Amino acid sequence: MNYHELLRDQMAKIVGAKPLEVVVMNTLTTNLHLLMVSFYKPTKIKYKIVIESDAFPSDRYAVQSQLKFHGFSEEDLIEWKPRKGEELLRIEDLEHIISEKGDEIALLLIGGVNYYTGQFLDLPRIAEIGHSKNCKVGIDLAHGAGNIQPNLHDSGVDFAAWCTYKYLNSGPEVCLVYLFMKDMLKIKTYHDFLVGGITTKQLVLICDNPLMSWKEQRAGSCRTHQYYQWQRS
Ligand SMILES: Cc1ncc(COP(=O)(O)O)c(C=O)c1O
Repeated sequence: MNYHELLRDQMAKIVGAKPLEVVVMNTLTTNLHLLMVSFYKPTKIKYKIVIESDAFPSDRYAVQSQLKFHGFSEEDLIEWKPRKGEELLRIEDLEHIISEKGDEIALLLIGGVNYYTGQFLDLPRIAEIGHSKNCKVGIDLAHGAGNIQPNLHDSGVDFAAWCTYKYLNSGPEVCLVYLFMKDMLKIKTYHDFLVGGITTKQLVLICDNPLMSWKEQRAGSCRTHQYYQWQRS
């Protein structure tokens, strides 16, 4: 069953994305890893990751694994914490972290609605803060999808992942916003991007990218066949 296509339009509406930006697949942590393979590109000087101190445990393990996979350590994880005696996060404290250490930070992975406190964070502001120091910004919307409207397309975040088994009252299918169109057109080679799971139309967008040579287009594509089919139809 082509559930990744059947469910796409409704799912896009729920999170305020364009259908082309959404694909339903895998489980949340798997998707976060796939997204981090594409978006977490640490260098020797810019490699740290920011999460909330109350991040969901498996999100913490996922970013720790990514740090270790790239040869860094758990200490390279920076926590955005509530102030002493408070329970909620303050955006100005994230601003402070980024203005102090942003040059060393490659990625922010933040729960859009925190699973523990229920705090709904200001996604456009977080994207703006992260991007001010060229950090990628990813959002876990497990507790946001079906609960709040995150308006992903206009939020400015680089990627998001969520699941259908919280506020969407469903089984464990999970979907993710792979990346926005503006980002797709920036991709120069397949090696910049993990192709698994993208839909044929997303692939076409990437293939149509004039920056990419035909050889590169073919090299990384497990779906070239589908691409031809789509072009012919
Ligand atoms: C906020 C949050 N992140 C991540 C996960 C992990 O999801 P999965 O086990 O599908 O990878 C959950 C699951 O409950 C969650 O609530």
